Amino acid sequence: MKIAPSILAADFANLASDVARVAPEADLLHVDCMDGHYVPNLTIGPPVVAALRRHTDLFLDCHLMVDNPAVLLPAFADAGADGVTVHVELGDPRPLLDGIRALGMRPGITLEPETPFDAVEPYLGEVGVLLVMSVRTGFGGQAFIPEVLEKVRAARRIVDERGLDLEIEIDGGIKLDNAHLAAAAGADVLVSGTGIFHQDDPAGAARRMREVAVAARAAAR
Ligand code: DX5
Ligand code: ZN
Repeated sequence: MKIAPSILAADFANLASDVARVAPEADLLHVDCMDGHYVPNLTIGPPVVAALRRHTDLFLDCHLMVDNPAVLLPAFADAGADGVTVHVELGDPRPLLDGIRALGMRPGITLEPETPFDAVEPYLGEVGVLLVMSVRTGFGGQAFIPEVLEKVRAARRIVDERGLDLEIEIDGGIKLDNAHLAAAAGADVLVSGTGIFHQDDPAGAARRMREVAVAARAAAR
């Protein structure tokens, strides 16, 4: 089980120190990049990834919620992004996935809560991560949508049957009280923003989340 704190919920004016606080309990850092077009919110992009890169060795897991990822991929690579995940809702993802790989980053694909699993199934053998959204993209702090767990289970079955080298990541509304559901369904990576950074002890929250998830996964096996 891996924990990926989402810096969307961190203090952007104190990003380095917020990241340093959670780093001992984090496996990746989830970076939500929104362009004000694909979603009605505007966040951060390659300059902030480059700044983060100078402060951490953690895997920088960039979730692109932008209309035109292709124009930004070289900048993300130059900034030091480790992985880039793109939305299947934008259309045929293959050119983007090829571009991400060609730039030396790990390609990922993601889908909105209302998008059926069939939309991503053809690409599972071509990506390093499937990101299952458990809230509609755009904002942190929304309520977890439990119905998406069916997609996590479907992905888990395929990964296990085919022996795919694919991580299943879940993003949105993950907190200490529902992390067990995601882990039991088969998620490998839990993204959590407010569930970590808005807690009194962010590192402790991440640590407990991992413990809960590890126990739930072991019990589900
Ligand atoms: C939503 C983002 C999520 C968000 C999660 O568009 O993709 O990564 O930061 O935040 P929480 O964990 O607060 O729902
Ligand atoms: Zn995200």
